[in-house]
Amino acid sequence: MLSVSGLTKTFPGVRALSGVDFTARAGEVHALIGENGAGKSTLIKVLTGVHRPDEGEVTYDGSPVRFATPLQAQHAGISTIYQEVNLVPLMSVARNLFLGREPRGPLGLIDFRRMHREADAALRELGVRVDVRRPLRELGVGVQQMVALARAVSVDARVVIMDEPTSSLEPREVRTLFRVIRMLRERGIAVIYVSHRLDELYEICDAVTVLRDGRVVHTGRMAELERLRLVALMLGREIGEVQGEGLTKFSGGHDAEAEPVLRAEELTVRHELHGVSLSVRPGEVVGLGGLLGSGRSETAKAIAGALPTDSGRVLVAGVPVRPGSTPAAIRAGISLLPEDRKAEGIVPGLSVRENIALAALPGLSRFGLVDEGRIDRIVDTFMKRLRIKAAGPHQKVGELSGGNQQKVLLARWLAMQPKVLLLDEPTRGIDVGAKAEVQKLIDELADDGLGVLLISSDTEELIEGSDRVVVLKDGVVVEELTGDAVTEDRLMRAIATAPAGTGDPDD
Ligand SMILES: Nc1ncnc2c1ncn2[C@@H]1O[C@H](COP(=O)(O)OP(=O)(O)OP(=O)(O)O)[C@@H](O)[C@H]1O
Ligand SMILES: [Mg+2]
Repeated sequence: MLSVSGLTKTFPGVRALSGVDFTARAGEVHALIGENGAGKSTLIKVLTGVHRPDEGEVTYDGSPVRFATPLQAQHAGISTIYQEVNLVPLMSVARNLFLGREPRGPLGLIDFRRMHREADAALRELGVRVDVRRPLRELGVGVQQMVALARAVSVDARVVIMDEPTSSLEPREVRTLFRVIRMLRERGIAVIYVSHRLDELYEICDAVTVLRDGRVVHTGRMAELERLRLVALMLGREIGEVQGEGLTKFSGGHDAEAEPVLRAEELTVRHELHGVSLSVRPGEVVGLGGLLGSGRSETAKAIAGALPTDSGRVLVAGVPVRPGSTPAAIRAGISLLPEDRKAEGIVPGLSVRENIALAALPGLSRFGLVDEGRIDRIVDTFMKRLRIKAAGPHQKVGELSGGNQQKVLLARWLAMQPKVLLLDEPTRGIDVGAKAEVQKLIDELADDGLGVLLISSDTEELIEGSDRVVVLKDGVVVEELTGDAVTEDRLMRAIATAPAGTGDPDD
C-alpha cells in the first residue's frame, strides 16, 4: 500500500535516515521500532510530506508519489497521528475533530449542532465522554490523544500512521485503541505503529521494522522476533549484554519512620480535587494511581503551585509553602516535571545546555556571576547519564527527537537538586535503554533522601517503582497500597472501586 526505497534524509550535522527500505501492506499492522533519535518520526514525516527526502522513492498504491504537504497526504488517504499532538489547543474538541472538513449548512456556515453531535458520537464510540465544546487545552494529554485518534479514524483513510499513540493512555484506553486498530486491519487498512512499549507491539503488530541510527537493521514478522533479540537489535548490542540488565527495577524499601519531606493536606480545587491528602518521606517513592481524569496531574500541579487551590495546604519539611505560587514552591524545594512538556516546559529555540540550566541557574550563580564551568559539567553529566542524543550541548532542543526532548526536560528538574520531585509520566516516550537509566537515576536520588511522587500510566513502572501507591478516583483518595499490597491486581481493583460518599461529580 505504501512503501519507500533508498530513502535518505539529512539535517544539518545529522543523517536522520540512510538508505531506508520500508513497506506497509494492506490489512497489516507494521511496528516501527528504534531508540530515541533512530529516525522513526523522520521516516513518517517523509512519508507524509512534512519533510522532503534527499534521495529515494515513495510509492503509494502502486504509483510513485511525492506529497508536498501533510494535507495532500491526508487527502490522498493517509491519516497520521503525529508524535507531537498537532491539534489546535484553543479550539473546541469538536472543531479539532473536524478541522478542515466541518459539516456546513446551506449557506456554507459551519453547522455547529451537527458537528457537536457527531463529535460526541465519535468520541463515545472510543469510550471518551467529554463536553466537546470545551477548548482542547483544558483536557489532559490522554484525552487529546483520543481526539487525535478519533480524527484519524473518522476520515476515510487507507493508511493510518500512529507515532506513539499510547504514550499517555491508561490501560483501558489502550484496549479501546487496540479494538480500533483491529477494526482498521479488518477493513484492509495499512497501519504503521510506533511505540516504545514492547508488550503492546507484540500484542497488536504483524510485521516489524527496526531502525538504528537511521538505518533499517531488521525487518520481518513480529511474532518471529524474540524480545531480547529485538532489544539487542535496537540498541546495537549483544543479546547477552541486554539479558544482564533487566528493565524496570527500582530497589525500594526506604525508611518508613522518617518525618515526611512533603505533606499535602486536604487539597481542594473546584471540580478537580476534593480534599486530597498525602505525604512523602525522604527517600520514598510514592506512586499516584488512577484513571485519566482522576486528578493525578491536578494533585501534582496543586502541590507545585501551578494550579490554584480553594483550600488545603502544602508543607515541605514541616514548613508551609505559600499556595498558588510556582516560584514559592520551587524555593521550598519542589520540582515538577509536567505532563504536557510541549506547553509547559521545553523551550525549542534554546539549546540543550540552556534548557537544562534554565531553572537551576539561580542556584548556579554566586554574587550574580554564573559559574559557566559548573554548568558545563552538569550539562555534560546529564547528557551522558540520560544518553541524550544531540549534535552537542549547543544544538537547539527543537531539533531533537521527541524522546530526547523529554530527557532534556527531565535533566532540567534533576539538575535543580530539589527536596521533592513530582514526576508526571517521566518515562513517556523514552526508549527502553534510557528508561532503565531514568529509573535507576530516580532510585539513586531517592537513596540520597529525595522524596518522589510518581505518576505513570505504565502500571508496571508504577508498581515496581513505588514504595507506596496512593489511588485517586474523581479527585478523592480512595485507597493507599503499602508493602506487599503494591501489586497490579490490587491497583486495578482499587481503581475500579467507587469512592464513598462523594456526591455527583458533575455538580
Ligand atoms: N528538524 C530537525 N532538525 C535537525 N535535526 C533533526 C530534526 N528532526 C529530527 N532531527 C534529528 O534526526 C534524528 C532522528 O530523529 P527522529 O525524530 O526521527 O527520531 P525518533 O526515532 O522519532 O525518536 P523518538 O523515539 O525520540 O521519537 C535525531 O538525531 C534528531 O535530532
Ligand atoms: Mg519520534
